Amino acid sequence: MSDVSIGTGKVVVNRAMSLDGFIAGPGHAMDWIFEYLTADTFPEVMAATGAMLVGRGTYEVAKRMADEDTAYDGGGQFVLTHEPPDEPDPTVTFLTCDIEEAVATARSAAGGKNLEILGADVAAQCLQRGLVDEILVYVLPVLLGDGVRFSPSSLGRIDLEPFSNTQSGAVTMLRFHVRK
Ligand SMILES: NC(=O)c1ccc[n+]([C@@H]2O[C@H](COP(=O)([O-])OP(=O)(O)OC[C@H]3O[C@@H](n4cnc5c(N)ncnc54)[C@H](OP(=O)(O)O)[C@@H]3O)[C@@H](O)[C@H]2O)c1
Repeated sequence: MSDVSIGTGKVVVNRAMSLDGFIAGPGHAMDWIFEYLTADTFPEVMAATGAMLVGRGTYEVAKRMADEDTAYDGGGQFVLTHEPPDEPDPTVTFLTCDIEEAVATARSAAGGKNLEILGADVAAQCLQRGLVDEILVYVLPVLLGDGVRFSPSSLGRIDLEPFSNTQSGAVTMLRFHVRK
């Protein structure tokens, strides 16, 4: 049974990762991801997603990539920042609040579907605070050598329980429950 039909509304950290553990290359490069992964690679993930919470860092990288074909409709997008831009962006809701409140706000907008957490810093905070139900990783067949790591060393140990392993073309999707 899919997540959509049971409407569990989980909080899911969702990442594409190189085999050597980077979620962005040097200079926040993301082009390598879209060589392998599109919204069609695992359509069930997008269908199960009702809202997304990202950090300002991810928002700025995505804005720079706006011309590339990265279309992904994961529902309403919430951006956590200490300083919302003067110029509003009608495509997102800027939040300035505690991480727990941000997750609650975005989760209630997901309408019973999953809330996806993207970005490095915000995801690490959510994991640190025990707010994450699941980690979903797309492992891509590339070694980047350098860049943004999956998680900062400050995060420490978090135990996971694997429950799904699916291949689509060159991409392997691994899913884990976060042990609480
Ligand atoms: N591989 C993938 O699937 C994937 C997906 C998404 C992103 N990425 C990559 O991840 C990197 C971005 O990560 P990042 O480390 O910059 O993290 P981020 O989590 O996207 O953004 C961090 C920013 O969010 C804001 N923020 C975080 N916590 C906050 C809080 N409690 N209250 C208010 N604002 C808060 C701060 O912005 P202010 O300074 O404005 O306050 C902070 O600088 C990029 O390289 C991006 O390409 C990879």
